[in-house]
Amino acid sequence: MFVNKGPFIINLKNYLEISGEKALLLTREAEKVSHDLGVRIIVSPPQVLLGWVSKSTTLEVVAQHVDANQIGASTGFSIPEMVRDAGAIGSIINHSEHPVELTMIADILKRMRSLDLVSIVCAKNFVELKEISKLEPDYVAIEPPELIGTKRSISTEKPKLISESFQYLQSSALRTKLICGAGINAPEDVRIALDLGSSGILAASSIVKSDKWYEKIYELAVQFKDPK
Ligand code: G3P
Repeated sequence: MFVNKGPFIINLKNYLEISGEKALLLTREAEKVSHDLGVRIIVSPPQVLLGWVSKSTTLEVVAQHVDANQIGASTGFSIPEMVRDAGAIGSIINHSEHPVELTMIADILKRMRSLDLVSIVCAKNFVELKEISKLEPDYVAIEPPELIGTKRSISTEKPKLISESFQYLQSSALRTKLICGAGINAPEDVRIALDLGSSGILAASSIVKSDKWYEKIYELAVQFKDPK
């Protein structure tokens, strides 16, 4: 049984620490934490490992990016139909490391919706969050690029960005839920973000680069549990 808040998404990016079989080793540790705590954890492996990781874990898996190119003659692109059939439940879109034009995001979302894929669209600032929310993805993930990969988190450096994003989504009565990320590395980063209205968390480097994956994932994931 999962607690209400979530998901806790671990983006493995293309770090060498999780290259090849190591992506599955980390995923297995996340799987144990999810099982031990009852917290919904989603893993986003490198695109080339998406199918393999998806078929090898009980955790939900999302792609790091997806393209709206045509079925068939679209060499090298990663299309929603292939993502779904690889076993993923959805995709991150418009990560600041892989930006996409707004009109393209709209096309991708249309295609994903027709396939029941979960969409997590990243926004690098409040202006972008407002534009993206109008497209009503399942989740919008606010991530200030300058904090990504650092030990300075959105929660401690830009708490207002989380609260104003949450309030905007609430006041617009949009069905889109808020996720936040960038620099999340300590339990209090998760706690603050959830308290400020974020439903979920996106985290990468603090976990991938940790030499104790289970412990690191656990200390962040346990914040999703209601303390009462
Ligand atoms: O997608 C998550 C991400 O960009 C945050 O990265 O390394 O700051 O946790 P990191």
